[in-house]
Amino acid sequence: MANILCIGAGFVGGPTMAVIAKHCPEHRIVVVDINAEKIAAWQSDHLPIYEPGLKEIVLSVRGKNLFFSTEIERHIAEAEIIFVSVNTPTKTFGQGAGKAADLQYWEKTARQIVEGSSSSKVVVEKSTLPVRTAEAMERILNSNEKGLFFDVVSNPEFLAEGTAVEDMQNPNRVLVGGRQTPSGQKAIQAIVDIYAHWVPRERIITTNLWSSELSKLAANAFLAQRVSSINAIANLCEKTGADVTEVAHAIGTDSRIGPRFLQASVGFGGSCFKKDILNLVYLCEFYGLDEVASYWEQVVRMNAYQQAGFVSKMVAAMFNTVANKRIALFGAAFKAHTSDTRESPALAVCRELLEEHARVVITDPYALESARADLHDVAAQVTFEPDPYAAARDAHAIAVATEWPQFAELDYAAIYETMVHPAFIFDGRNILDHKRLFEIGYNVYAVGKPPLTHFENANPMP
Ligand code: NAD
Ligand code: UGA
Repeated sequence: MANILCIGAGFVGGPTMAVIAKHCPEHRIVVVDINAEKIAAWQSDHLPIYEPGLKEIVLSVRGKNLFFSTEIERHIAEAEIIFVSVNTPTKTFGQGAGKAADLQYWEKTARQIVEGSSSSKVVVEKSTLPVRTAEAMERILNSNEKGLFFDVVSNPEFLAEGTAVEDMQNPNRVLVGGRQTPSGQKAIQAIVDIYAHWVPRERIITTNLWSSELSKLAANAFLAQRVSSINAIANLCEKTGADVTEVAHAIGTDSRIGPRFLQASVGFGGSCFKKDILNLVYLCEFYGLDEVASYWEQVVRMNAYQQAGFVSKMVAAMFNTVANKRIALFGAAFKAHTSDTRESPALAVCRELLEEHARVVITDPYALESARADLHDVAAQVTFEPDPYAAARDAHAIAVATEWPQFAELDYAAIYETMVHPAFIFDGRNILDHKRLFEIGYNVYAVGKPPLTHFENANPMP
């Protein structure tokens, strides 16, 4: 039996510890956070995040071998293994502002661990961190005067939101990096043993510390790069009459390229892609690798272009003005099956539409609460409407910004009757049946496809 502690009860800390608790009934797992409201929510029936399958798992282990608490110091003292899963946002001040990771929460946690410990422990980096953070962590932890020794292990998390439970239960791989010393190897083994309860041994990769830290940043950079690459091609499709879905299928069938992450869109969002790539860019600049830095920075720039371009296309299609027009924004979450709106392209689109003086109504099945909080500075100008039919009533246009499958199942013929005509649909996720919408009477604009409109000469194709 081991006492495992996780510091940080967020999107990563909560689900990962719930799955570990489920598969390791002999271990006692406590998740702590400075945010008392969040801890109370984890202890209630209304969990602080929505993830398919999460509530069932939490309810099955909570109070048995999974506990949530705000008593950080007490639980640090009791733990043998401490996962640290606090947030590591982009720095907004001083050196590296706008790019480097803000490690203040991270460092504060390291100091809290030293203060609260009276025995040696394994400390696990679960948060995504700049490569070589473990070195700083080791220095802080091991300059204690209590004679304690802390092994630092990197165990980055690869789960995606919306599929967090499935990704944890059945991961492509688990990565554990540590020092090549006897004590470091023992620490790696302790973490491997936890995952080996349910993950096949051949899927648990062990590396040195720096490879593990860097692999996390590299994985996110590669994934985001694919989205920016297909979005770049989508722009060319719109100019040439090619269809990005056909192009994605044609290139994705090459087994060297593969079909996944080739869905053209209004741009990628989420709390990590942008922050992690900017962090990578900062690291490259720090090491004097300016060309490498600008290569990766372009992935983020392409994404900003894609988000802004979506609104420009809307304005251009709607006779160069959306001022005072009601626009129904379908989706607030940064992707389907999550309530998370951090860096959501939907909210970026909302803000740009407000700049154009449009009247925006947002609908989303799970993320309205979070959207309201994120848009607090402009909330008076936005209507939050859980019912998509009500959102679209009297609207000039619908803009799909999140790929919720339920948006594809609505009765668009009935919706059309309630809208202002000519009615527009901008499908920023390519999830709707465009031909059918056109037949109903809509003017349809998708990403990377020729528009389907009822206007003469609307298609700018040569
Ligand atoms: P989050 O903001 O949802 O949760 C972090 C939590 O840490 C917050 O609840 C915060 O109150 C708490 N916290 C901060 N400082 C603390 C302290 N000193 N003591 C106790 N609690 C403290 O963030 P997240 O999405 O869970 O991400 C955490 C880390 O995991 C980040 O580095 C992120 O890049 C990485 N990550 C996130 C995802 C994801 O899907 N969200 C996936 C993989 C990796
Ligand atoms: C991503 C990674 O997929 C995870 O492996 C990683 O652990 C996580 O970041 C992290 O470090 O936080 P996540 O951001 O939750 O996970 O979601 P993704 O499925 O990667 O989607 C990110 C964004 O890209 C979403 O806005 C999504 O709609 C968009 N996307 C994705 C596209 O526009 N097109 C695609 O083909 C795929």
